[in-house]
Amino acid sequence: MKISLSIDQEKCIKCYSCIAECPFDLINPDKEGFPQLRKAALRRCIRCGHCMAVCGNDALDITVSPLAGITAVDKRMLPTPQSVEHLLKSRRSIRTYKKRVADHDTLAAILEVSRYSPSAHNCQSAHWLMVEDPLEVQKLAGLVVDYMREIKVFPGLIRAWDQGEDKVLRGAPHLAICHADPGKSEHPVEDCTLSTAYLDLSASSFGLGSCWAGFLVQAFYKHKPLVEALALPENHVVYTALMLGYPKFKYRHIPQRDDLKVTWR
Ligand SMILES: Cc1cc2nc3c(=O)[nH]c(=O)nc-3n(C[C@H](O)[C@H](O)[C@H](O)COP(=O)(O)O)c2cc1C
Repeated sequence: MKISLSIDQEKCIKCYSCIAECPFDLINPDKEGFPQLRKAALRRCIRCGHCMAVCGNDALDITVSPLAGITAVDKRMLPTPQSVEHLLKSRRSIRTYKKRVADHDTLAAILEVSRYSPSAHNCQSAHWLMVEDPLEVQKLAGLVVDYMREIKVFPGLIRAWDQGEDKVLRGAPHLAICHADPGKSEHPVEDCTLSTAYLDLSASSFGLGSCWAGFLVQAFYKHKPLVEALALPENHVVYTALMLGYPKFKYRHIPQRDDLKVTWR
């Protein structure tokens, strides 16, 4: 990996925020006190871009994550603690969807946000398969039902399917499937789970409903026709999946949850 760090000495005030925020201590001051990369950066830099993003004076550029590609944080756009709390608490798993499909740009916009979720060593291992076509989503639901029939589980779900009701993917018009190559990350489960959580919340902020599709993920591990239908890149595994569509019903209340389980020391 090629990597180089350049400092605009006119702008750098030697505050050392870049040094303090580097997760692997790969920056130190040079003889004149300007930040410089240590040799170890060649091997250990995880391209997180924090050194550049934290610089209050735009004095630092790093070629693995060039300054040109970063966006400024707009404080006025940040939600209040109360609105974050309300978004998080009011997000619900939606199990009844309108037939209305979401437009491509909306689906692309919610996926865009998912790129910013945390990932182990910033490896960003999560990939997406976005099934936009409602007919294909139904086909996938059918394959999950085939699997349930084969291993004789969930007779109620199978009966419902036979009577024209999809209780597996809930008749959602879209399905976002998150997959990764387990050889490319030490924590693919966490990477995909967090990316999906971001997608879930982002969808909610756009007025889209969503629900985690656990049945489909379980079937992926055991049912070859489903694996074939998804046709993922070689070695990739499905870790999470999210149904998406416009909710038929609006939730007017936030349900109760268990009391916080916490030990304070
Ligand atoms: C890993 C995971 C798998 C899930 N799988 C399903 C599923 O297959 N079908 C479903 O209806 N809900 C599924 N859910 C949704 C949960 O049932 C739901 O999050 C929980 O009941 C709490 O409701 P809330 O999300 O509205 O707060 C899943 C959730 C998670 C985290």
